[in-house]
Amino acid sequence: MRLVTLHRCQSGIILGKSIYNENGKVLLSKGTKLTDSLIERLKKFNIFTVYIDDEASEGIEIVDSIPEPLLMEAGDVITQGLDSIAELNSTTSNLQGMIITGKTVQSFQDIFKNIIGFLTDNRTVLNLLATTKICKNHVYTHSLNVSIYASQLAIANGLPQKKIEEIGLGALLHDLGKLFIPVEVLNKPGKLTKEEFEQVKSHCELGFENLRRVHEIPLTVAHCALQHHERIDGAGYPRGLKGTEIHEYAKILSVADVFDAVTSHRVYRPGMLPHKGIEILYSGSGTQFETNQIQLFKNCIAIYPQGLTVKLNDGRTGIVSKYNFHSVGRPEIRVIRDEEGQKVKPYEIDLSSKNHLTVEIVQADALL
Ligand SMILES: [Fe+2]
Repeated sequence: MRLVTLHRCQSGIILGKSIYNENGKVLLSKGTKLTDSLIERLKKFNIFTVYIDDEASEGIEIVDSIPEPLLMEAGDVITQGLDSIAELNSTTSNLQGMIITGKTVQSFQDIFKNIIGFLTDNRTVLNLLATTKICKNHVYTHSLNVSIYASQLAIANGLPQKKIEEIGLGALLHDLGKLFIPVEVLNKPGKLTKEEFEQVKSHCELGFENLRRVHEIPLTVAHCALQHHERIDGAGYPRGLKGTEIHEYAKILSVADVFDAVTSHRVYRPGMLPHKGIEILYSGSGTQFETNQIQLFKNCIAIYPQGLTVKLNDGRTGIVSKYNFHSVGRPEIRVIRDEEGQKVKPYEIDLSSKNHLTVEIVQADALL
């Protein structure tokens, strides 16, 4: 199995992994032979990449970082919960106080206990590209992804269970204030006007003011909404807090938030690949984010996801076939073309034991 951009797919290509609709039901099952009309349909759903089965990638099995049924259930719980919050509040002004029921909070806590349990018990590197699901609302998908990234980073920090769970919930609710900002402003592809930017920025306080009133939600969780755009050099918002003034949860959350923001697809642009996302984090190392948090995070994610086509520094081309948990940036590669670009009988090499080899280029034509 390997990962390709949808625009490279031609009719006849076999789908390697199922594609799910916004309700988590299978839209196209694995093994489906894609036709031109199916490809066009997927493009309309803003799907940029798919897993396919072909000869070169035969036998490469994509390991789900979180089992698909659990991920689908989480998506469902979050959609229902956030929908109910949006619905209950559609007639009230958010300044009067948002209505969030204890039942919704409980459902979020329950599903996250399961996800955190899985992440704690299993050695995994996160590859959230591995499940293709049509996105109903970008804020919902972003909330789930950020919760998973932030929980894994909290585990990597060695935090106690209670704190990991609070960070998971805080991450899930960090952008709650955005539910009350017009979608046209949130999804605007171009530059925002000053007023629009102020409106977007208000989501932090809006989320905090409302979350802190909910009896079932710890105050530290509400602070995740308030502080996730604060940066350690003081250049963030809303308060311009610096270094130790920022809560430890928010420091973890900001890394997870930015990584998901740059690596996920938006209606108006495809997402960056994980290795680029990590570069973006490093560009803010010591100014926006704490360096040790970026380093810990780097070990939590699949920098080169399985199925990705890469070119090595000696000119050979291959597909990422297996992760090395002790060195996630140096996976196993199935070589499919030699130094001259000629097709070869596929064979595997392990980058973790070949220090002279590095991933030079991620093939832009095979993947974004
Ligand atoms: Fe945000």
